[in-house]
Amino acid sequence: MRKKVTVVGAGNVGANCALRIADKELADVVLVDVVDGVPQGKGLDLLESGPIQGYDVSITGANDYEPTANSDIVVVTAGFPRKPGMSRDDLLMANYEVVKTATEQAVKYSPNAILILVTNPLDAMCWTAYQVSKFSKNRVIGMAGVLDTARFRTFISAELGVSVENVTAVVMGGHGDTMVPIVRLSNVSGIPLTELMDQATIDRLVQRTRDGGAEIVKYLKTGSAYYAPSAATVEMVESILKDKKKVLPCAALLEGEYGIHGLFAGVPVKLGANGIEKIYQIQLNAGEKAQLDKSAAAVQELVNVIQSKMNA
Ligand code: APR
Repeated sequence: MRKKVTVVGAGNVGANCALRIADKELADVVLVDVVDGVPQGKGLDLLESGPIQGYDVSITGANDYEPTANSDIVVVTAGFPRKPGMSRDDLLMANYEVVKTATEQAVKYSPNAILILVTNPLDAMCWTAYQVSKFSKNRVIGMAGVLDTARFRTFISAELGVSVENVTAVVMGGHGDTMVPIVRLSNVSGIPLTELMDQATIDRLVQRTRDGGAEIVKYLKTGSAYYAPSAATVEMVESILKDKKKVLPCAALLEGEYGIHGLFAGVPVKLGANGIEKIYQIQLNAGEKAQLDKSAAAVQELVNVIQSKMNA
């Protein structure tokens, strides 16, 4: 029997996730969105690409969760972009409500699924889905690090004129301004980055990686990135469905790892059929640890806002 993936949110990221899952023939896909007709229309359009692309998967769209029953994975991309005049906290609470509803509905119909969160602010949305779903921590995973490292790898490869395939990069921490690129462990076919570039160049690429999302928003003006985010999400989907056990940077619930308790943050994990099968704890130097602590504090602030509004 074919695997089944639900993608909540049939916008830019969600529709491209569906497209990539179908192109790789990984699973049947159900797209869910609140807007009447959009998931149905995009689903049908994707289905009609099948004879040309040569994939035999079913792609359907819905405005409710019944058709999502027994999904192996639920990807949550639903949410609002930040609108003019909206504070970060307003956006946080708007997307909190979206992710809360989506999670409640999705887990009702797919109690054994693995949840992959994409909606921003990512680490706080993972925390929300974890609280609402009551799933074990290995089954709630956030997509951020795969995208952030892909951006860092892109910039390194362009700078050196080498294949992206040879570039390995490590980025940890929260998804956002406080992400922590670990330059010391980033390399090109095993050659440390520090032997290939001077510090000023490394600093420039690190900064561009931190600002990677904003750089795209600045170009697009009306939306945020979706090709690389959907590619990153589907790499995670594939590793889980095929039990590939890829080691990828993902947002995971930390319970003491790296001295962080009860928060989601980006760390290297092993992704297989059971979701997060291992969290790797690597030795960080004092500077890296300080940056990670700062990043965790930023995630904690968002979680505090949610908790205070929930209790109000
Ligand atoms: N349930 C289902 N879908 C919803 C809900 C909801 N409660 N609320 C909003 N949506 C849908 C919207 O109708 C829209 O189709 O979520 C979709 C979001 O799509 P886009 O606005 O195109 O946003 P996108 O670029 O896909 O980004 C989605 O991913 O990368 C993150 O920061 C990004 O949080 C954002 C998310």
